[in-house]
Amino acid sequence: MFSASRAHTSIPPRPIAIAVTLMFLALALVKPILSQGGEADMSVVPTNIDFDWFELPVLALVYVINPLHLWYWVLGLTALFFLLPWLPPQRLGSARAQNSITFHPDHQAISARFGETLLDAGLRQDIDLPYECRNGGCGVCKCTVLQGKVDPGLYQPSALSAAELAQGKVLLCCASALEDVEIEYQARTLPKGFQEYSARVVGMEKLTDDVMRVLLKLPEGQQIAFKAGQYINIILEDGQRRAFSFANPPHEAEFVELQIRLMPGGRFTTHVFDTMKAGDEVRFEGPIGDFTLRESTRPIVFVAGATGFAPVKSMVEDAFKRGLQRQIHLYWGVRSRKDLYLPDLPERWAREHENFHFIPVLSDPAPEDSWSGRTGLVHEAILEDFPELKEHEIYACGSVRMVEAIFPFLKKHGAEDGACFSDAFSVSARSMAFQPRQP
Ligand code: FES
Repeated sequence: MFSASRAHTSIPPRPIAIAVTLMFLALALVKPILSQGGEADMSVVPTNIDFDWFELPVLALVYVINPLHLWYWVLGLTALFFLLPWLPPQRLGSARAQNSITFHPDHQAISARFGETLLDAGLRQDIDLPYECRNGGCGVCKCTVLQGKVDPGLYQPSALSAAELAQGKVLLCCASALEDVEIEYQARTLPKGFQEYSARVVGMEKLTDDVMRVLLKLPEGQQIAFKAGQYINIILEDGQRRAFSFANPPHEAEFVELQIRLMPGGRFTTHVFDTMKAGDEVRFEGPIGDFTLRESTRPIVFVAGATGFAPVKSMVEDAFKRGLQRQIHLYWGVRSRKDLYLPDLPERWAREHENFHFIPVLSDPAPEDSWSGRTGLVHEAILEDFPELKEHEIYACGSVRMVEAIFPFLKKHGAEDGACFSDAFSVSARSMAFQPRQP
């Protein structure tokens, strides 16, 4: 079903190939490279040719091979290298510039350009395929290959497990057709109220060196109705999405508050830190997600990793507003003290609300932190406090690694599948640079 090889494009687009060839020809005429002997004098037969390893190493062979044969070899090898991309054996998929993709259940057949992802080909031809991150991080575009070979591409293991891949599942945003294929996808069901918005940046505040609070304001009279814990997709110029959770509660919907962590190499987050300014327009879509507080009477354990604090802030403030009396424990796991970018806020909540308890946990406190609080991994702190979690509801938000690491431990201590909820953010699989599904 799948090819292990990755489809590469070895031949540049024709306009680029022609332009580069012309450029080299022009350069050769304007500034020819001279061999060691200086400029050629066509009236003189050279009697001695020095070895020139860089420009003409082959010339030295005239002393050991018949010069005419040498010329044939040089011309033959040059022609061979030139024709190499068209010679057999060809990689699967490179034999044809276009493959046909038939999407089910609507039986729509389209053509895909060589190397184009299934998603790009479908969207280009107006098929309403499901997607969110477009970079192999969220898993929303998962589909089934019914027939034909595809290259699954690069993606986050959390978005598509090895078992799913073995069952013929791939991600539309990463996979490309290697021959004519048939694909089955699930039509997307848009969340209630989901739509596209255009907002202005009205506030930016650096909470730490690498966390920025960004306030977005919708045009006068417009508001977005959302549930605490949901998120939006920022739409980049080329249509890629970057997801960020609402950090404000639904009853404070005048602005959209985001807490954005700078990710090394992250395209959008570096823009936020380096060039974004008040007044900039930001397009986004939402609200999305079901990481929301369930109606129940169970005590709540929130687990936030780094900026996973953002949706938790929205949920806790919403819970206070609604007068929830359930016991709430918030464990905020970070590396060192400076990463607790809003430490006063949960401390104030704890002072003002008897049912709220705040437990910051530092995994690697710096000497200057003078930290006397909890240390270690965040799930260890939870298990020290709650050896038995059967009665609790657990909401975890942080990196995929954190979320995937903590639940097996918590479940061993009684946490029930139906009472564990998570929202994880990931690294862009395509660029291998951080492209967050950030809270
Ligand atoms: S859109 Fe394909 S994994 Fe997110």
